[in-house]
Amino acid sequence: MLRRPRRNRRSSAIRGMVRETRLSTDNLVYPLFIFDGKNIKNEISSLPGNYRMSLDNILIEIEECVNLGLQNFIMFPAVDEKLKNKTATYSYNPKNFYLKAATKIKKKFPKITLISDVAMDPYSSDGHDGLVKNGKILNDPTLPILGKMAVAQAKAGFDIIGPSDKMDGRVQYIREALDKAGFSETSIMSYSVKYASAFYGPFRDALDSAPKAGDKKTYQMDPANQREALIEAELDTQEGADFLMVKPALNYLDVISLLKSNFELPIAAYHVSGECAMLIAACQNGWLNYETAMPETLTSIHRAGADVIITYFAKDYAKLAK
Ligand code: PBG
Repeated sequence: MLRRPRRNRRSSAIRGMVRETRLSTDNLVYPLFIFDGKNIKNEISSLPGNYRMSLDNILIEIEECVNLGLQNFIMFPAVDEKLKNKTATYSYNPKNFYLKAATKIKKKFPKITLISDVAMDPYSSDGHDGLVKNGKILNDPTLPILGKMAVAQAKAGFDIIGPSDKMDGRVQYIREALDKAGFSETSIMSYSVKYASAFYGPFRDALDSAPKAGDKKTYQMDPANQREALIEAELDTQEGADFLMVKPALNYLDVISLLKSNFELPIAAYHVSGECAMLIAACQNGWLNYETAMPETLTSIHRAGADVIITYFAKDYAKLAK
């Protein structure tokens, strides 16, 4: 035998020398769920180890993460049912606790990256990402609402705007609205390739944001489609996105890889709540080992081509890396 691949695996030092993928805490984004009020920290039962928190506890959480070297955060609001309506007006109301919280967070931690969520669902009495009329999700009338939401978020201090709504043309609409309002430096991380997935359950539990009727299949993508991802990524690139996202991550590693080889923009992957919950459950049962299965999972998303990984495991990874 002239070729023996095992020679390059025989010690930890050699394996380290030839390792192809190195995941760093720098690549990770940690999701935070914010709730209005004080001294609130409720565990999300379908996502153990993750909490809905009020601002005071969010600030403590961010400080702990920053001390672990984790600097990127994405924040989602859990909105009181009474504040929801058909047109999601609370989303851009200057009194909105989510916007006020962003300003305070950025004031205390100016160096971190804070990513927003643009979609109507947390604020919509219909629980859909777009405007609902006679059971239909209307595309173009949703855009001005998303535009106002994005500008309000940029004004509040978010560094990156994250449209997760999947309406056509929203990246360009938001880009133009931001530029017109003087926020040409605020970036857009587009949920370009977001599938109508069964793996968002714990997230919807956390925010009480499940659709009141119907599903999201007329705007989120069919899990069976791969080439359609190229259309979405191409459009978002032309429309001015700064990052292209694939969501979920693990069941869609082929799509992450496809985008990585066809586009120059940074690729983000959202390792979603249901994907993390499965692993947590197996580990809690003693069927898998968290300290080895978790980093292997994140490394495979990185190896597939994701430059940025949004994951509920970010803080635990940072701890392990330290
Ligand atoms: C909604 C939104 C969802 C997630 C992020 N933004 C849920 C949905 O589309 O219904 C899911 C994230 C996760 O499951 O971790 N705008």
